[in-house]
Amino acid sequence: MKDLSDYLRSIPDFPKPGIIFRDVTSILQNADGFKLAIDSLLQKLEGVEFDVIAGAESRGFIFSAPLAYKLNKPLALIRKKGKLPCETVSASYALEYGFAEIEMHKDSISKGQKVILIDDLLATGGTLEASAKLIEMLGGHVEKILTLIELLGLHGREKLKKYNVESVLSFE
Ligand code: PRP
Ligand code: ADE
Repeated sequence: MKDLSDYLRSIPDFPKPGIIFRDVTSILQNADGFKLAIDSLLQKLEGVEFDVIAGAESRGFIFSAPLAYKLNKPLALIRKKGKLPCETVSASYALEYGFAEIEMHKDSISKGQKVILIDDLLATGGTLEASAKLIEMLGGHVEKILTLIELLGLHGREKLKKYNVESVLSFE
């Protein structure tokens, strides 16, 4: 049987020289690959009690939505600035160059809810740290942060020390 890593293509020097881009489109293009990705994430949530799944735009949406469907939980979207129409909370975070801002609807999580935060990939941890902050601003508790891929060399986990972080595949 194939391993999830067999479906993941890695592209050197994209989008910049020196970066190895872990391209999830190669998983999605293969029905068995996508199923294996979702089943692997589901396995990591076995026995975990929680109220809401939160997914980070945009690749995080692809993996969070099937989990919410399968586990019969609500899905809260973490979107890039300016996309959500109702009242929001927002957080800024550092990218390699400059800053980005993400938002959540104020009514997407209620006080005291246990939240599973999902993204496709953990690199420097900036996106997930800011996402977790938003969840906490809304009174949610980040029960677990779960990604399909983790780039160990970028030490994103250190930014997320106070959380329970798990990933399916990891690379140096
Ligand atoms: C990518 C990826 C993660 C983030 C990881 O998203 O999907 O969300 O980078 O990097 P970090 O750990 O250093 O924050 P990107 O912002 O490229 O957006 P996309 O999902 O819309 O492609
Ligand atoms: N997001 C941040 N770093 C990445 C990488 N190396 N591959 C794919 N997505 C990324």
